Amino acid sequence: MSQKITAAITAVGGYVPEDRLTNFDLEKMVDTNDEWIRTRTGISERRILRGEGLATSDMVVPAVKELCAKRGIDPSEIDALIVGTVTPDMMFPSTANVACHKLGATNAWGFDLLAACSGFLYSLTTGASLIESGRYKKVVVVGADKMSSIINYNDRATCIIFGDGAGAVLLEPSTEGYGVQDSILRSDGSGGNYLHMKAGGSLRPASNETVANNEHYAYQEGQAVFKFAVKGMADVSAELLERNKLTGDDIAWLVPHQANKRIIDATADRMGLSHDKVMLNIQRYGNTTAGTIPLCLWDWEKQLKKGDNIVLAAFGGGFTWGATLVKWGY
Ligand code: UT7
Repeated sequence: MSQKITAAITAVGGYVPEDRLTNFDLEKMVDTNDEWIRTRTGISERRILRGEGLATSDMVVPAVKELCAKRGIDPSEIDALIVGTVTPDMMFPSTANVACHKLGATNAWGFDLLAACSGFLYSLTTGASLIESGRYKKVVVVGADKMSSIINYNDRATCIIFGDGAGAVLLEPSTEGYGVQDSILRSDGSGGNYLHMKAGGSLRPASNETVANNEHYAYQEGQAVFKFAVKGMADVSAELLERNKLTGDDIAWLVPHQANKRIIDATADRMGLSHDKVMLNIQRYGNTTAGTIPLCLWDWEKQLKKGDNIVLAAFGGGFTWGATLVKWGY
């Protein structure tokens, strides 16, 4: 009898750039202050990838290299690479293509997946399906964004929130039931008005006019997104617990998208989870879009124990949102 294959996470890698942009730096750039940013978002500083010729793939590569080193494998053993990102190096080729080349992942195919802040969860579920199908043995799933490339540093509504970073996990088949257990993923395109980048796509190709109008920067109506995010992330996380007959007591960690500490607190409360079980690194990295969840796993890896039930949850542009239940495998 053939055993059920699940997709276990068997290694984690991450990368954040050296350069820090603190709230005090931002005070000098826009009309804001450290106190406001900390109390309204929980953020103190973020990392920025500076330097000519550096792009999202340059964060993907060190994250994946670290993961390979930890697992003792060579990049040529990777079967597929999925990169969740809204800031690809270029519109095409995909950042996955570029990163595979730089890594020497010569036997991998791959693609970018665009689901904004839910990019890692969408990619994880997709990568897990490749493993569960039995056709692939080593799938790397990355969440990576160089948000500083699409942020207007004169717009205090967005520039205080976002930062750059990349996190990656390796998925391998498990016959003992470890890894991705269940996922609820949602989308609602009517939310697109509240969070988007107006120009640079086929709707409004880049032109002198779009650049003059700052339409190549991320646009967000924060309050509207906030309201949907609080409800969306909490609802889907609670639904995931219920459908798996679990309560907050059964969960070792909540790994939430790091957009705003107030959204995270609301989700933990809805799940009946004490706040010491919530991974929170927003104060150090800000919102790295697809990077937040794997960067939490990267920071907390040593504290995770084999068999821990963890819930990953996200809400973001699209709107896209979701929650994934993972049984930690090492
Ligand atoms: O990750 C993708 C999904 N994104 C999210 O989940 C983000 C969700 N939204 C948020 O996190 C919050 O809406 C923000 C952090 C973006 C903004 O916080 P808020 O509590 O919603 O602020 P607000 O836009 O309602 O503004 C409150 C006040 C306003 O002043 P008045 O009208 O009350 O006098 C703003 O003008 O704060 C003012 N304000 C600022 N003050 C200092 C707005 N931005 C700033 C700022 N510094 N950077």
